[in-house]
Amino acid sequence: MYFPEVRMRRLRKNDNFRRLVRETTLSVNDLIYPLFVVPGSGVKTEISSMPGVFQMSADMIVEECKAVEALGIPGVILFGIPESKDEAATGAYDENGVVQTAIRAIKDAENKMLVITDVCLCEYMSHGHCGVVQDGEIKNDISLELLAQTAVSHVEAGADMVAPSDMMDGRVAAIRASLDETGYQDTPIMSYAVKYASAFYGPFREAAESVPQFGDRKSYQMDPANVLEALREAAMDVEEGADILMVKPALSYLDIVTQVAMEFGYPTAAYNVSGEYAMIKAAAMNGWLDEARAVMEALTSIKRAGADIILTYHAKDAARWLK
Ligand code: PBG
Repeated sequence: MYFPEVRMRRLRKNDNFRRLVRETTLSVNDLIYPLFVVPGSGVKTEISSMPGVFQMSADMIVEECKAVEALGIPGVILFGIPESKDEAATGAYDENGVVQTAIRAIKDAENKMLVITDVCLCEYMSHGHCGVVQDGEIKNDISLELLAQTAVSHVEAGADMVAPSDMMDGRVAAIRASLDETGYQDTPIMSYAVKYASAFYGPFREAAESVPQFGDRKSYQMDPANVLEALREAAMDVEEGADILMVKPALSYLDIVTQVAMEFGYPTAAYNVSGEYAMIKAAAMNGWLDEARAVMEALTSIKRAGADIILTYHAKDAARWLK
């Protein structure tokens, strides 16, 4: 049956009809809010390319977490910017490192939300790469040990879940083995299973002070043109023991989100990255689009594509708009 018997507009007539036939519902339960931790106290510095997002010291992070919890957001993910960087990423697995200190402060303040940590070396390496560099190359296997050590130190400090974002091969297995050996069999891993070498990380690298000092990340992050490879990446992480599979970025990769969600049936997360946030923010600040509508549409599209979890810098605003 077609027009004029069928009229699609009948069920779009008013909001009640639209609510009844709506297929996708975005909820505060889907959101994770990223936070950038710096050393010191009383520090709250806005990131110029990410208006509304701040680098914060642990004490300010604790306050922020109270606000995030009050909004009903289930979790935060922490990124650390250390005092100093070196060639062994020492700050990444220092028990008194920025992230470890912030986790303890959040837990001491009895926040009940999940504290997730990004496990990577780039913020702690003087060269800004996600693995150990030798002879101008990013070495895979020796990086695994440092990544596993980092993950264990986060969980020892109280992290509820770790999220490796480095894209070294075999890191999920290495982290799983180390967590199991140290008695943390019950701590899940949310793997950045499919992470592309994307231009949309630009503002994050300003925020995390992790711009690579030479070369780029294309020898470990994925080529944006590939989808079959994404499924093989995700399959490997499933084999290695990942509990949640993440696709990153989100908006230019919605087809990948759909395929990963359908193929594996695992909880699927999508990272609505810094550049995606900055684009909407910049346009909204110029009066070129309606921020709330654009954000809700973008987040709903990620959910519609198949994501169960969305990591987004819009989380606090979205939680308010959802109320
Ligand atoms: C660390 C990491 C990055 C992001 C998350 N973890 C940056 C990168 O790979 O360069 C990007 C997050 C964002 O852009 O919001 N490896």
